[in-house]
Amino acid sequence: MTWARRAVPAVATAVAALAARDLIQRDHALLRNFPILGRARYLLETIGPELRQYIVAGNNEERPFTRDQRRWVYASAKQENNYFGFGTDNDIEYTPGYPIIKHRTFGRAVPPSSPAAGHDVRLPCAKVLGAARGRARAFRPESVVNISGMSFGSLSGNAVTALNKGAALAGCLQNTGEGGLSPYHRNGGELVFQLGTAYFGCRDEHGRFSLDRLKDLVAGAPVKALEIKLSQGAKPSLGGLLPGAKVSAEIAATRGIPAGQDCVSPSRHAEFSDCDSLLDWVELLAAETGLPVGIKSAVGDLGFWQELATLMRDTGRGVDFVTIDGGEGGTGAAPLIFAEHGLHEQVVFVGAGKLGLPDNAIVAFALGCDLVNVGREAMLSIGCIQAQKCHTDTCPTGVATQNAWLARGLDPASKSVRAANYVRTLRRDLTKVAEACGVEHPGLIGTDAVEILDGRTGSTPLHEVYGYRPEWGLPSPADQAEIIRLMVPEAPKGGSAPPSATAVG
Ligand SMILES: Cc1cc2nc3c(=O)[nH]c(=O)nc-3n(C[C@H](O)[C@H](O)[C@H](O)COP(=O)(O)O)c2cc1C
Ligand code: SF4
Repeated sequence: MTWARRAVPAVATAVAALAARDLIQRDHALLRNFPILGRARYLLETIGPELRQYIVAGNNEERPFTRDQRRWVYASAKQENNYFGFGTDNDIEYTPGYPIIKHRTFGRAVPPSSPAAGHDVRLPCAKVLGAARGRARAFRPESVVNISGMSFGSLSGNAVTALNKGAALAGCLQNTGEGGLSPYHRNGGELVFQLGTAYFGCRDEHGRFSLDRLKDLVAGAPVKALEIKLSQGAKPSLGGLLPGAKVSAEIAATRGIPAGQDCVSPSRHAEFSDCDSLLDWVELLAAETGLPVGIKSAVGDLGFWQELATLMRDTGRGVDFVTIDGGEGGTGAAPLIFAEHGLHEQVVFVGAGKLGLPDNAIVAFALGCDLVNVGREAMLSIGCIQAQKCHTDTCPTGVATQNAWLARGLDPASKSVRAANYVRTLRRDLTKVAEACGVEHPGLIGTDAVEILDGRTGSTPLHEVYGYRPEWGLPSPADQAEIIRLMVPEAPKGGSAPPSATAVG
């Protein structure tokens, strides 16, 4: 058995060398955290499609993000080819709700011919945030794709850093989430500061909102807008509790709370109690900081939106933006109500909820969204594998954990590039689809460009599904003219071959 005596140490040395390599490399958080063991996942991922296709589940079956959707994000984040070969495996004709985006044969925007063209194209918002209400610090968001609110505390410091640096690289905004503005948010990326019911980061020692602290905070960081969180899809107006064990010194300092003690997020805001007082508070924050101020909510009770829009129309007070956490469908409800009150051109609509994929985002834009926020898709871009253990503090990729050893696996430098690649690729693909629809910018896509299949080979135009009039969901004529002017020199344009002598037009 001499060969065995020789082989065992040789194999052990090779495994140890591989483990050491896994530990120090920075591209794959999973391998940094689980050397050797993590390789099994990559092997399974490689042969997974074949295994699943015949044995377990299809490419469209996993939730919340299907395998195809995740593959699209991963490929985009690595700047690899994100196309699907040999036609779609989606059961298009027989899937109710499937959106069909209609290209225009003789549209005015001519898409470029090369698949990679447009990766670095600027894709700013078609509206100027805060302009309609004359806010001192109104601005045009540089990117229609921005990073959704996800607090430091729910995400690791390394994940927040990666997303913040990624936002800086891609020229987009990062929403802080309701957990305050941490040191990890100060890596160059511009911010939307979110105010939740606990007023983390801008509260006094009794837990009361402090306007002075808010003003100090926004003066000392690149905060471009404020977002008042009313609710989010997964937390419909419920409070929350962060157990004392998880309130580290860092989290305590960021949130403005004592370390090591249970931290309660109330279920209601203390600063306002109805639409009228909400609008007063919005105006106060805007006047004191000069920043545009918006609200974030799931669609929920339509009566709230009706009342808010009526008060805005009748009193002249108003929010500068509305973030709707509700996917394509929910996103349609808010612009519709504001349009009925003649206000849709004065509000920037931000959609969230699986809108970080081109097809979903295009439907949202057609329904009147001006911006989309990406949350979990951005997490996927920095290494999340949808293990769905975010709530257990054992996230294997270091994205959603406060465990220092697991978070160490996530290298912010390389992952920030992935996050930026993903945002840029999504912008590129949105530009391409807009051009295929004959317009220069996704915000100019109207409801007439989309049909929703009924699952029985028939379809209904999007405006009929949501009860829209043709002009609803579009920016004002002046904003449309301006965004076309901004886009035209930007996007590389295609064209035709030189016309022949017998060409007729
Ligand atoms: C880990 C995590 C933390 C979140 N924290 C917040 C938060 O602090 N405030 C908020 O308004 N939404 C929060 N959200 C919701 C997201 O901002 C977003 O609205 C939601 O995930 C839907 O978008 P998505 O499908 O792109 O993920 C969080 C989501 C995740 C996954
Ligand atoms: S626990 Fe799983 S789903 Fe949650 S962030 Fe980590 S890898 Fe992603």
